[in-house]
Amino acid sequence: MSGRLAGKVCIITGTGGSVGRAAALAFAREGASVVGCDVTVEEAEVTSELVRAEGGTMISLQPCRLTDSSECHALVDFAVRAFGRIDVLFNNAAMAYFNWLEDITDEEWSRDMRGEIDLVFFLTRAAWPHLKTSHGVVVNTASLNGLLSFKTLGSLAHTTAKAGVIGMTRQLAMEGREHGIRANSISPGLIETNQTREQLKDPAWASAMLGKTLLGRLGRPEEVANLALFLASEESSYVTGVDIVVDGGMRVW
Ligand SMILES: NC(=O)c1ccc[n+]([C@@H]2O[C@H](COP(=O)([O-])OP(=O)(O)OC[C@H]3O[C@@H](n4cnc5c(N)ncnc54)[C@H](O)[C@@H]3O)[C@@H](O)[C@H]2O)c1
Repeated sequence: MSGRLAGKVCIITGTGGSVGRAAALAFAREGASVVGCDVTVEEAEVTSELVRAEGGTMISLQPCRLTDSSECHALVDFAVRAFGRIDVLFNNAAMAYFNWLEDITDEEWSRDMRGEIDLVFFLTRAAWPHLKTSHGVVVNTASLNGLLSFKTLGSLAHTTAKAGVIGMTRQLAMEGREHGIRANSISPGLIETNQTREQLKDPAWASAMLGKTLLGRLGRPEEVANLALFLASEESSYVTGVDIVVDGGMRVW
C-alpha cells in the first residue's frame, strides 16, 4: 500500500457536505481507510460511492447525529469493528446559526453550541482511547470567524463556538502530548459551498467579503481538504496545538 495515509484509519465527519466529501476523496486517494458519517443519508451515500468508484476504501454511518453522545460512541464502535483501530479523527461537521446579539434567542444560542462545539467534544472523547493506542491525530475545523469578526455577519454564537474549537484544540494537544497524540485546527475563510453561493447573490455582501480576499476568489473545498490531509499525515509530525488559516489572504487587510 502506498500514499501519505497508507494503512491509516481515518474518521471524517460530515462526509455528505462539501469539505467532508473532498476530504474523503483526498484521504482515500492517499491510501486511508475512511470512515464517514452524516445526518443526511443520501449525500453521505453518494460520497461513499464516489470514493469506491475510484478504488478507495470507505464505509459510512448515516444518519448519525453527532450532537448525541451515544451516536458518537456508535460511530467509534462502527470504525473499530470494521478496521480495528482509529488513527485520525477529522472533526469537520458543524451546523452554524447566524444572528446578532439583540436578536438571538436562548434556543438558537444553545443549538449553535450543540452543533459546533458539543459534537467535537463528544466524538473526540469517544475516540480518545483508540487515538491513545495509535498515537493518533485530531484535526478540528474552526473558522476565520473564530479569529475575527465581519461587519456583514451576525455571527455571535458562531464566532464564539469556533473560537471555542480553537481553544479546545490547544487543550487537546496539551492533554494528548504524553500519548503521542497531535491536535490542530483549520480555520477556513470563505469557501464555495451551497450556502455561501446563495449568499454571494447579494452584491453588497459579495463585494464586502470577496473584496477581503487577496486572491480575489472563493476557496474550494479541496483546498481545505488538502490542509486537513497535511495535518493528518506524518508530513506535519512536528506540528501540534496550532490553528492554521486557509483563507486566500482574507485576514491580511
Ligand atoms: N463554507 C465555508 O465558507 C466555511 C468557512 C469556515 C468554516 N467552515 C467549516 O467547515 C466545515 C465544513 O463545512 P462545509 O462548508 O463543508 O459545510 P456543509 O454544510 O457542506 O457540510 C457540513 C456537513 O456536516 C453535516 N453535519 C452538520 N451537523 C452534523 C451533526 N450534528 N451530525 C452529523 N453531521 C452533521 C451536514 O449534514 C453537512 O453534510 C464546518 O465545520 C464549517 O463550520 C466552512
